[in-house]
This record gives sequence, structure tokens and C-alpha cells, in this order.
Amino acid sequence: MCSDLDEAKKALVKRTPPYVIKADGLAAGKGAFVVSEMKEAEKIASELLVERRLGEAGQTIVVEDFLKGYELTAMAVTDGKTYRMLPLSQDHKRAFDSDEGPNTGGMGAYSPLPQVSKLLINRIEREIIAPTVEGLKAEGRDFIGTIYAGIMVHDGDPYVLEYNVRFGDPEAQVVLPICDVDWGDLFTACCSGTLDEFGEIKAKTTAVGVVMASGGYPDSYEMGYPIEGLERLKDREDVLVFHSGTKKAEGKFFTDGGRILTIVGLADDLRQAREKAYHAVSSITFRNAHYRRDIAWQAFV
Ligand code: GLY
Repeated sequence: MCSDLDEAKKALVKRTPPYVIKADGLAAGKGAFVVSEMKEAEKIASELLVERRLGEAGQTIVVEDFLKGYELTAMAVTDGKTYRMLPLSQDHKRAFDSDEGPNTGGMGAYSPLPQVSKLLINRIEREIIAPTVEGLKAEGRDFIGTIYAGIMVHDGDPYVLEYNVRFGDPEAQVVLPICDVDWGDLFTACCSGTLDEFGEIKAKTTAVGVVMASGGYPDSYEMGYPIEGLERLKDREDVLVFHSGTKKAEGKFFTDGGRILTIVGLADDLRQAREKAYHAVSSITFRNAHYRRDIAWQAFV
């Protein structure tokens, strides 16, 4: 952990490229940087620590080793005594196809992950989620809620990159709709300490969610454009529309942020879910709309 630029420079020279720099505070998914040049790394450290580009979130930073592999999201709910895992999911953090461009708050997600073996899922549960719940108990923290572990699978082994105590965004938009549970009952069980009465939570279908964003996001973008086509999806049970950066005025929706909508396709298999999501996306228009065309690509390689 570094709180001044000299410390950060010393930490950086001990590493080999690529360099990983993270804001220690909450930065809405935009606090992690991976760069290949030392000069660039020092510039980011200076922007965070000296220019305070992310405000308080970046007043201390972490310099870490780069782990090569693929990322996934493991979420679980806990009543403070036991826990239940939710289906795994994958976010798509980069702005452009083929995981290029700047990091965003998430450009799409899908669940479950057919390419992840049952063995690895069991390891994530046994080595990460269960010890986390046990650790919270051992520290006397009565934590009831959602545990989010952002995991990197490196050489087949799972490493925790980050924890959150909330659902992932946009992961929640594909995980919650596919679980074979009544969420009201599940949350009630969490609050009343009776989660052990619940069985394993399974995926009853699959989901692919595509985020439609304002062109230019996550940097500068324009807002205030009318969104057309939403009414066409209103009665669909196999397509869900989640609003984020929208605003309603005189009965019409307008763009009002970076990420505007997440369109989720639901189907028995991911290929169909993806087709449904993209078909629905093509029926929605607003000026400068941008979305990735390759959500869920890792499930099909
Ligand atoms: N999808 C990343 C997050 O929710 O933090």
C-alpha cells in the first residue's frame, strides 16, 4: 500500500511489467490500471496520489503482481452462519470487443459458465467462499448479505482479486433471474438465520446481458438523447431490460449517463440467450449508442 509518489515508485521498480496499480478505495469499478510501461505506471500513480483523479478512493494505492488468466465472479449469500453459492458469472470490463480499450463499470455479463469445471467451482467454494464466511464469524462480524469475490483463474488456480459486499453489476442482472429460488424467501432466511433450510441454489436457465452505453463512455460522452424501441420489449418474458443511466420525462426515456441499459436474453442455452439479447439490442436505438458485440465469447471458444 502506498500513500505517496516516492513510495509508489519504489514499489513499481520491484515489479516486472505489466504493472498493476489499484486505488485502495471504492472507485465504481474504475480504479484498476494495467500498463506495460514504467513511465505510464508512474503517471497513473501521480494522477491518483498527487492530482487526486479519483478523489479519496485513490489517496492510497496498491501495486500488485500481474496475474495472467481469466476472471470470473463468484457470489454467495450468507445469514452469518452458513452460505449458499450463486451460479458463477463473468463481467466484461473493457469498453471494446476482444477485451480492448479502457476499463468500465462493466459492458455485459453472462451466467452460468459452462467452461468452468465442477472441480474448480468446488475449489472456489472450499478455498474462498467458505473460509471467508468462517473468517467473518471468527472476527465477530455478524455479516448478513452478499459476498462477491472477483477471482482470477491463473494456471488453473483461483486467486481473489477483490471482495465486495454487494451483488456485482452487471453480474446481478444475469445471475438473479436464472436462480431457482424465491428471492424474498431467500433474503428472509438470511435475515432470520435459517439459510441452512435452503438447498443448493441452481441455475434454471442461462442468461446473457449486453450493456448499451453512451458512445465515448467511460471517458466523455453526451446525454439527453431519446431512447426508442423500449415498448417493443415490454411484454417479453425471455428478454429483460434493466435501466441505469436513463431519465424519464413526459412519458419518454432519455439517456442520462454512461451505461444506459442492460438487455438480458434468457434461454435454455447460452447461444440462444445471446441471440435473444442481441436481437433485442438491435431493436433499441439512441444517438451514439455503443455496445460490445462479443459478450459471452469465453463460453464459445
Ligand atoms: N462487475 C464488477 C463489480 O460489480 O464490481
